[in-house]
Amino acid sequence: MVDGIGTLVILGAGGDLAKRLLLPGLGQLLDADRGHDFRLIGVGFDEMTDDEWRARVADSFAAGEATGPRARAVAGETRYLRADVTKPDDLRRILASVTGVPALYFALPPKVTIAACAALRTVGVPKGTVLGLEKPFGTDLRSAQALNRKLVTLVPETHIHRVDHFLGKSTVLNLLGLRFANRIFEQVWSSEHVERVDIRFDETLALEGRAGYYDKAGALVDMIQSHLLLVMAIVAMEPPSSLDAEDLRGAMTQVLRATRVWDGDAVTASRRARYGAGSIDGHKIPAYDKEPGVDPELATETLAEVTVGIENWRWAGVPFHLRSGKALSDKRQEVVITFKDVPHRPYGFTGNPGPACLRISLNPDSIELDLNINGEGNPFTIDRVRLDVNFAAGEMAPYGEVLHGVLSDDPTLSVRADAVEECWRIVAPVLAAWRKNDVPLDSYRAGSTGPTAWR
Ligand code: BG6
Repeated sequence: MVDGIGTLVILGAGGDLAKRLLLPGLGQLLDADRGHDFRLIGVGFDEMTDDEWRARVADSFAAGEATGPRARAVAGETRYLRADVTKPDDLRRILASVTGVPALYFALPPKVTIAACAALRTVGVPKGTVLGLEKPFGTDLRSAQALNRKLVTLVPETHIHRVDHFLGKSTVLNLLGLRFANRIFEQVWSSEHVERVDIRFDETLALEGRAGYYDKAGALVDMIQSHLLLVMAIVAMEPPSSLDAEDLRGAMTQVLRATRVWDGDAVTASRRARYGAGSIDGHKIPAYDKEPGVDPELATETLAEVTVGIENWRWAGVPFHLRSGKALSDKRQEVVITFKDVPHRPYGFTGNPGPACLRISLNPDSIELDLNINGEGNPFTIDRVRLDVNFAAGEMAPYGEVLHGVLSDDPTLSVRADAVEECWRIVAPVLAAWRKNDVPLDSYRAGSTGPTAWR
């Protein structure tokens, strides 16, 4: 058994995040039997009976194919409390109902989390309390700094888990093995041999009824400010001496501290666009600004691209292109390392398929190495060949993995305070340029690859 957490309290239990991601991951974690023994309490603003809540938990566990005895036991005895988590009296009532050390998981929008943490300070928390917080952490650099200052007055930094489920993706974790358990890659992992790095997360999903959250975030904050910059930090970090929380997170933060928008110019280093009506896989998709709950005045982007540079000895001069968008034609979700071309190709060879590249795909989980070799037939013609390997799926969905970290109070896969602040600092000039309208909001058809002019 993992000592410690006696009760997991999900604040925002009635929300979409809890239903679609958190609870299925939790069910898988229970089935994986990694030694946790806790009670579950759901807290939400809406009225719900214990039985309704239990049915909801069981449904979400089933959606994650978690139907084992431990998942069933937790779903069968969980309780639901109706509460306004920004009110100290309600928080006292919640804390009075926990047994053992609580883990409080804020599955709430950033503004509500900030207000709840302020209220929690007047109440105090039991010794050993662990906090789990969803991204986006704060709404900008200043609010993230203020929230960090508040949180450490509640519990020590080591008990604060800023959750980013991309750090629980098995292929993101495989990057560590690929880089640091193979001598061959580390030798070429620098500006001397790498031309550019692309980190891309194109989704075919559109808004999915999430206007309340997404319309205020947009693609840049939803994906690049958090997930993609952290993936970049793993791709670009110096080899840590161990995988413990201090070494790993220290190495990641160092990369982020060295990162700036390309050429220091947010206008030339970024692009944004919003989808119009179209169709994906035969389903009609309405224009983003016609979706219920969207305020067209906010000019929220659904596709964002930012180029950054890492200003250190290893990476100076290599552009890192980060891109993510919704309602696109393909799920291209990958990290692509494009190597520099060879310094000289012996005279006599024909054909040039371009430089070698390494593609780490997050969907499906695989690695592909594109190399140039002598083609079939004429041995003096250079052709492309692909070496590829698919990874077996991880034991659990990413949320199971990050929840394991929270419930074991192991911060290795949670984002440290300084890393979150660096991520906001990196995107701040882009957000400012977009707010001033210095970068046009382009448009693309839902189901396309993006604006025609970007191709
Ligand atoms: C979430 C974003 O954090 O990550 C979503 O809020 C996005 O907009 C999702 O769709 C993508 O991650 P995954 O693992 O669900 O593909």
